Amino acid sequence: MLTVEQVAACGVVPVVVLDDAEQAVPTAKALLAGGINAMEITFRTAAAKASIAKVAKEVPEMIVGAGTVVSLEQLHDAVEAGAKFIVSPGTDPEVIAEANKLGVAMTPGVVTPSEILMGLKLGVKVFKFFPAETYGGLKTIKALCGPFPQIRFLPTGGINQNNAAEYYKNPKILAVGGSWMVTKDMVNAGDFEGITAKSKAATDLFKEIRG
Ligand code: 3PG
Repeated sequence: MLTVEQVAACGVVPVVVLDDAEQAVPTAKALLAGGINAMEITFRTAAAKASIAKVAKEVPEMIVGAGTVVSLEQLHDAVEAGAKFIVSPGTDPEVIAEANKLGVAMTPGVVTPSEILMGLKLGVKVFKFFPAETYGGLKTIKALCGPFPQIRFLPTGGINQNNAAEYYKNPKILAVGGSWMVTKDMVNAGDFEGITAKSKAATDLFKEIRG
């Protein structure tokens, strides 16, 4: 089983929304060319399961995971398709417990101490902080780390090339998530060079700050 730390080692977890599973492999390859070796394909579209399956089968260097997993059914579909990690916008104890049982890394979303307490009970050590910028960004994360010094965050929502550095400078940030390097428009336009360029800029920034 991969840990969240292994999944997020390159510092950026792209949140990918695909309308068509045929876009999955070229998108995965474009991200890889930019130094990003993990991608979250979200269950916001009907193409999610087939997209995960294609990447798992055809691009083995890419660690593929599922995002926006909000039900047990989606969790099972994701794992069946080959997802190596699961991300959810919120904290559902049933989904977390089932992911633990299935042996797949699970990053639930939180913004409050009570949600963190729920996740801690189920063994979660890294939480998605979402929607990060709307809920106070780093300032809120620093406040949450007071009572919870043992956890780290994967903030997502409103993060981009211009504000990622501030997050990287804080050791409580494992990595950041976001869609700025792989927007729906870029994917739909087939702008794979653009995806690679923005991915490279993001991973370079992480290396520059974290070494
Ligand atoms: C997510 O689900 O994590 C967000 O939708 C990604 O946020 P962003 O599009 O603002 O990067």
